[in-house]
Amino acid sequence: MTRRLLVTSALPYANGAIHLGHLVEYIQTDIWVRFQKLRGHTCYYVCADDTHGTPIMLRAEQEGITPEALIERVGIEHRRDFAGFLIDFDHYGSTHSPATRGYAEDIYLRLRAEGLIEVRSIEQFYDPVKAMFLPDRYIRGECPRCGAKDQYGDNCESCGAAYTPSELKNPYSAVSGSKPELRASDHHFFKLSDPRCQDFLRRYTREAGRLQPEAANKMQEWLGAEGENKLSDWDISRDAPYFGFEIPGAPGKYFYVWLDAPIGYFGSFKELVAKRQAAGEDIDLAAFLEPGAAAAVGTEMYHFIGKDILYFHALFWPAELEHAGYRTPTAIFAHGFLTVDGAKMSKSRGTFITAESYLGQGLNPEWLRYYYAAKLNASMEDIDLNLDDFIARVNSDLVGKYLNIASRTAGFVTRQGGGRLAVADEQLPVIQAIRAAAPRIAELYEAREFGRAMREIMALADQANQYVDQHKPWELARDPGSTAALIGVCSNALNVFRLLALLLKPVLPALAHAVEDFLRIVPLTWSDLGHLLAPGHAIAPYRHLMRRIERKEVDALLEANRTTLTQEPAAAASGGASPIRHGEAAQHAAHAATQADAGATISIDTFAQVDLRIARIVDAAAVEGADKLLRLELDLGALGRRQVFAGIKSAYGPEALIGRLTVMVANLAPRKMKFGLSEGMVLAASDADGDSPGIFLLAPDTGAEPGMRVK
Ligand code: 2FM
Ligand code: ZN
Repeated sequence: MTRRLLVTSALPYANGAIHLGHLVEYIQTDIWVRFQKLRGHTCYYVCADDTHGTPIMLRAEQEGITPEALIERVGIEHRRDFAGFLIDFDHYGSTHSPATRGYAEDIYLRLRAEGLIEVRSIEQFYDPVKAMFLPDRYIRGECPRCGAKDQYGDNCESCGAAYTPSELKNPYSAVSGSKPELRASDHHFFKLSDPRCQDFLRRYTREAGRLQPEAANKMQEWLGAEGENKLSDWDISRDAPYFGFEIPGAPGKYFYVWLDAPIGYFGSFKELVAKRQAAGEDIDLAAFLEPGAAAAVGTEMYHFIGKDILYFHALFWPAELEHAGYRTPTAIFAHGFLTVDGAKMSKSRGTFITAESYLGQGLNPEWLRYYYAAKLNASMEDIDLNLDDFIARVNSDLVGKYLNIASRTAGFVTRQGGGRLAVADEQLPVIQAIRAAAPRIAELYEAREFGRAMREIMALADQANQYVDQHKPWELARDPGSTAALIGVCSNALNVFRLLALLLKPVLPALAHAVEDFLRIVPLTWSDLGHLLAPGHAIAPYRHLMRRIERKEVDALLEANRTTLTQEPAAAASGGASPIRHGEAAQHAAHAATQADAGATISIDTFAQVDLRIARIVDAAAVEGADKLLRLELDLGALGRRQVFAGIKSAYGPEALIGRLTVMVANLAPRKMKFGLSEGMVLAASDADGDSPGIFLLAPDTGAEPGMRVK
């Protein structure tokens, strides 16, 4: 059955550059969408710039341009960066559009007709010099708890206290520096406290598949127990001056940016529908947005978001939609934050890496797409971009494993087979293994368990390389009587290469395209798993499809992104830069707590990232100038040989080790040492501080072979 899906990623703010933190989400969504399309489903991926609000208004003013000019410029930059990372939106719009305005007004008016909008007067800080009300982020002062100076209006960076701006001591406006005064003004509230909203949300957030289990739990906490009324009404208006849409019938009052942001999903989709209808496509807006039609046709709607904006997407947004008579999201998929080398992205360390600089330095976007895929799963755990691991994994998996299959076989077909393939063996174990694994890999993609999918695919690539190792085409090539056997082996390998390109295609679309050109085939789709290339099929000469990454390129990237502290813009001005959105101090505290809990254990997936292998010590020698080290040469079977420097000299003489089997970490990033490159680590037990003579090298039971995986 062909599914019909509408998929979104969160809308980036139109006042900041796209960085590698943002890209976790766009890459995650893009992989999922490409997978759906590869399977033959109808899937629309829409996004837009989030263009409204005070930070954008003030930023434009600072630059001496209109907000319209600012969002226009940033919109162009965002589109360029997304295209550079192969994020293939079906439409990319802007919330500052007639379509979004139309839906914002409609939703507001329908909620008002339902009695779910209430106007009441509230007191807020007002900047008398700038003549504007100040969002919490623009009020600074001394922390009411610890007295630290220059703290934000909603939380203290020094002691972590969360509070309201009126509790700050000696407050001042971050816009003009003046002393703010409290003033009353009318605000429009969406009545989330209404029993209809509470009942609906209790039901909705518990429905199977809507939210990840950890998100559903969080929502139950926010909603409180049955009968409890913990949700407060949501203030959806802001006073002029404000860059946004004026509320119908309320001059001088504007929709708060967070009201029209998710509505921008609909606005963008409406533009897509108009565009496609004009091109003659049979696509129906109502089938996606109206509850009756959506249920009848069975359309699905998914939002990919960061875990920090769950509150808006899992509570406010579905409640608005439900009571305004629109369809609600089929599911909301939240992901964690990105850390780089285990720490928050930092401008002074150069790890606040912009998309533009990554591409500008000549790094391949598919390296990052693959690395993120290898790290992503369906949970809300943070993901770490470990730069050494990034290099090691891309080089070993993509270049060393996947592309190796073609680079060591294609030349023979060109030179000795006239560029034509022989019949491939349908019964070949690795081809059968790929076909057997494909449904499981599809399930993993569907479930957003991309890391596990990548591991399955790389295990198949290992198997393909073992096949090539066993049949040694380079030896067959030396014997003129073995040409048929040679072309047979290479044809099998290249057929496997094609099938793996297909399985990797959602992650590596440009590479898959290059493979399609090389193999001279039409674009691969999932059903191509069912057949192999016909005998006599002509391929193009192989040229290298991807090069290795070098550490010095990554260092240059960090250097290009390093700013001194004085260059850092004020946090308040960079809405999109912080993973913690303005005014969300309480959620910030909750996030910190989750992270602390998570520290104690690791998931099975995290463990599975360590590639442990059986290794035979084929050579061991003392290292001149190092009294604790031995240089070991390890044989990993099909994975080749590695050199490792191990601190085990105090417990073992080199001769006692030669010929022994042990266990090594095979995917540890190589480390340059004074004596040479150490390409992994052998495992040994020792007491807490590793003092001699208590070092015991691990050994497998008899029967284990070099290269076998330990798990
Ligand atoms: O947090 C942010 O970066 C917002 N601009 C996300 C908006 S997502 C959706 F609601 F539009
Ligand atoms: Zn404090």
